Amino acid sequence: MPVINRIAEFHAEMAAWRQDLHRHPELALQEVRTSGVVQEKLRGFGVDEILTGMARTGVVGVIHGRAAGGAIGLRADMDALPIHEQTGRDYASQTPGVMHACGHDGHTAMLLGAAKYLAETRNFDGTVYVIFQPAEENLAGGEIMVKEGLFERCPMRLVFGLHNWPGVPAGTFMWRKGPVMAAVANIEIDITGRGGHAAHPDRGVDPIVVAAQIINALQTIVARTIEPVECGVVTIGHISGGHIHNVIPETVRMLGTARWFAPHVGDRLEAGVRRLATGIAESFGAQAEVVFDRAYPPVVNDAAATDLTIRAATAVAGDARVGEMEKPTMGGEDFAFMLAAKQGSYIMLGTGRGNDAMPHHPKYDFNDEVLTVGASYWATLAEQVLGRTA
Ligand code: NI
Repeated sequence: MPVINRIAEFHAEMAAWRQDLHRHPELALQEVRTSGVVQEKLRGFGVDEILTGMARTGVVGVIHGRAAGGAIGLRADMDALPIHEQTGRDYASQTPGVMHACGHDGHTAMLLGAAKYLAETRNFDGTVYVIFQPAEENLAGGEIMVKEGLFERCPMRLVFGLHNWPGVPAGTFMWRKGPVMAAVANIEIDITGRGGHAAHPDRGVDPIVVAAQIINALQTIVARTIEPVECGVVTIGHISGGHIHNVIPETVRMLGTARWFAPHVGDRLEAGVRRLATGIAESFGAQAEVVFDRAYPPVVNDAAATDLTIRAATAVAGDARVGEMEKPTMGGEDFAFMLAAKQGSYIMLGTGRGNDAMPHHPKYDFNDEVLTVGASYWATLAEQVLGRTA
């Protein structure tokens, strides 16, 4: 069974929803218009209940089947990024500096398409919760929804997520059991020396030189303290300090990220960053203040739940278009918080485009051709997992 016929019939409508969301992107926890559009559509589809108020702009649509039964959650994200769009498309962002550069507009449109179909056909028993979460990027809207009672208000057995994946052929699903996306920590290092005239370095403590030593030393954490068959990342992505040729500044600030899968690797990375930054600064007569803020846990797919996603993806896309991801990715994803609280699985859907326009790039462009594939996957997953008893 390829794409569900009824869903294919409203492909143009889904593309219009996606493009409307794309024109009006909203940053994390500010998805007021988007949340309103989602609620209005769900109401129009005739879902049984619409729950709001979780994580400020989060929305859950409740769709009951024909008889009592189990319950599952299908989750999409709604937020955009602080990126200035350069696609030149007619549906390009109308908000300067804000863009749906990760395809969350597509995720929202696909789940809306599935909700429309499921509310119309109800070819299942039990309950489907369609979860539209805010703030996937950086502000952990998924974690907030879980903390604000998502799984108490919506008791479900399993929860599923999906992300578009440019660079993989359009309509191809990629699954993986176990860890699939990495844990993330945000690093901040503030070095304080003693500023002064650049011609008299002997009278101060130069924090720029200290920063240089620290940056180099941080590269040894993964190379020298993590077992070679494990994996981790420490990247410094920002450094600022000083403003002119002939002044030694008082302070330097560095921002970075750490990524890992195994908890003991995360502990090693944190200990290494703290030890090297503070120890090196001290050895130069400076001080370093270190923040190692653990933002997201890893995304870990349950094996049995992943089998369910493989079955649904295969029913929609066919055997040849469903494959195993060779490796996990060091990217992070806030669906991790839902999977930490509830069994489930997160699958990737290829969109065909990629290379120079991967997610988080100003020329990233969601491929509307996959909207029906994604919506059919969600609908099929719900129908297969919940089934009909009668
Ligand atoms: Ni994303």
